[in-house]
Order: sequence, then C-alpha cells, then structure tokens
Amino acid sequence: MVVTGRPCDGMNILKVGAGMKKECLITGVAGFVGSHLAEALLALNHKVIGVDNFFSGYRENMTSFESHPDFSFHECSVEEPGLLGRIGREHPGIDACFHLAAIVSVPYSVEHEAETMRVNWEATERLLADAEDLGCSRFVFAGSAAEYGEDDRLPLLESYVGQETIHVSPYGRAKHLSTQRVASSPIGVALRFFNIYGPRQDPKSPYSGVISRFIDFALAREPLNIFGDGGQTRDFIYVGDVVSAYLAAAGLGEFEAPLPTGVYNVGTGVGTSILELADAIRDLTGNVLPHRFLPERAGDIRHSLASIEAIQGHSHWSPGVGLREGLRRTIGR
Ligand code: UD1
Repeated sequence: MVVTGRPCDGMNILKVGAGMKKECLITGVAGFVGSHLAEALLALNHKVIGVDNFFSGYRENMTSFESHPDFSFHECSVEEPGLLGRIGREHPGIDACFHLAAIVSVPYSVEHEAETMRVNWEATERLLADAEDLGCSRFVFAGSAAEYGEDDRLPLLESYVGQETIHVSPYGRAKHLSTQRVASSPIGVALRFFNIYGPRQDPKSPYSGVISRFIDFALAREPLNIFGDGGQTRDFIYVGDVVSAYLAAAGLGEFEAPLPTGVYNVGTGVGTSILELADAIRDLTGNVLPHRFLPERAGDIRHSLASIEAIQGHSHWSPGVGLREGLRRTIGR
C-alpha cells in the first residue's frame, strides 16, 4: 500500500536561518514521522543519514528528499549488530541520532513478544551505546504514551511511569525500558508521544491511528466506525509539532540549546473525544452519514492526556497547530 501526502507545512523551521551544518542520523526515515523529520532537517540545511528496512515504512514517503544531495540512505535493520559503528566509519561526525525505527503495532507486539523486545528494546540499548562511543551529542528516542499503561491520574506527568506501572503490551514495556535507559544517558532525550496524526499516516491497517482511518472512511463516503460510546478522549498532536519537539530535543532550528537529558511528554494538553473528532472530520469532508457505533475495543483506555509542563519548562516548544487546522492539512483541503 502506497502512502502519499504533503509534508507537514506550517512548521516554525521555515522562519529560521541556517545554522551550522550538522550530520543527523534518523532510524525509521521511511516512516510517517521519520520522513517529516528528514524533510525538516534538510530544509534547515543539515545532512541526513537515513536508515530503514521498510518493515512498516514506505519508499514513497522519501520521494521528496531521496535524491537530495545532503541525504544518504542505508537499507538495513536496526537489529544489525555494530550498525552505528559501520555507518559512523562512512560518515564520521554524526552529531545527533534520532531513533524512531520500531515495531509500531501494539497488537503485533502481543503476538510477537520476543521480536518486539529485540527490536524495540535491545536494539535501542545497542544503538545508544554505539552513539555514546561515537561521541554524538544527542540521542533522541521515540517513547510512547503506552508507557503509562492504565493510569487515570490526568494529566499524565512523566514521573507517573514507574515500577508499579502495568504494561498491557510488550510494546509498552519495551518503550518504557528504552526510555529509562535513554534518559539515564549523558546524551539521551526520550520524547513520550501521545496520539500523533498528519499527512502520510498509513490508514490501511486495522490498527492505524483513528484520525487516518476516519479521514479514509469519510472521503470514501462511508460511515465512521466508533468503538464504544465515543466518549473516550485522546491528546492528538500534529506531526509538524512532533518534528519541532525533535528539533528542540537536539537544539536545532529555532532551538538554540538542546533539551536537558531526560523524559518529556509531547502532546497538546488538550483532550478531544472520539465523537467530537468524528463530527469535525465529517464536517470538514462533507460526509453526512450517521456514525456507526460498534462494541468497545478490547484493551482500550478511556482517557489519555499529557502534561506538557516539563518540555515547556525547558524550551520554548509549544504545540502550534490546533486540531481543526491539523485535520484540514491532513485531509489536504
Ligand atoms: C495509541 C497508539 C498506541 C499506543 C497508545 C498509548 C496509535 C495508532 N496507537 O493508541 O500505539 O499504545 O496510543 O496510549 O497512535 N477508534 C474508533 N474507531 C476507529 C479507530 C479507533 O473509535 O476506527 C477509537 C479507539 O477505540 C480508541 C481511540 O479511537 O478509543 C484512539 O484509537 P487509536 O488511534 O488506535 O489510538 P490509541 O488506542 O489511543
């Protein structure tokens, strides 16, 4: 399945002049978020070394930058032992590593526990150690709100994840182990993302994000499937704001200093119910069909909401794209 879409426009990066050229490595560069990050770094005049094995990414996501002179690509798995050492010999001077490659499906992680722990945890540990050895100044890891498990103390503070947290999936467990290890490194920043959406998010898997699925259905003039009563809420964050958070973590673009090492939630601090979301998408696409209510999805959490005080306390990052505007950009009209 081919995913196309516009890059995440409207980001602050375009306002910024070019600073010193840095070499940045992105694992998962052909993925939804990785490809947006690559575009942003190249627009800022940095070099990008991309890694992907197309397990869940698509070559088409790299169309806008694949032949850019400052981009080079390595088709390989992050499980490859000594990967960073090998790439580092070819590209001495890698300054920042953005580690996004992962098994991204929670249900897949339940069925493939050993593989998930190898890819999402053991490979991260190895890459981080190699980045430390190479002398990189920042290693930025893609954590997940799944690390919180079923916590209902809202908004969620970074410190709530701990020994007592019950992770319902190997995905949540592996992300948490990796976050802990990254946050304890002298070069590590773990960004804990809430529900990311935007252009190029794959709508076709049954486990795709709700926004990409709703838009796909709405444009196909089909009713939107709401699991449960639609009263469950999520903190939806636009991919352009996620890219800005990556830049903040590494002190690139408009961010003059990197975030201090540690863990930071990346969300908006605003909750939206699935029913409100469905109504907004129906409105923006002109789909007038009534929603289709289906049984609640097994294992669904009721509410999820980020506290973003930590990242805002350490940088001037802030979510710039509201839900309606982000939906408009994602729909592409
Ligand atoms: C998201 C992540 C997941 C992570 C979790 C942590 C995605 C795709 N998944 O799951 O990796 O573990 O956050 O908090 O970002 N829904 C419908 N109709 C649909 C699809 C979904 O009503 O067609 C509902 C779901 O039942 C759920 C909500 O929408 O209540 C959000 O679903 P989804 O986008 O899959 O994300 P999360 O379940 O929050």
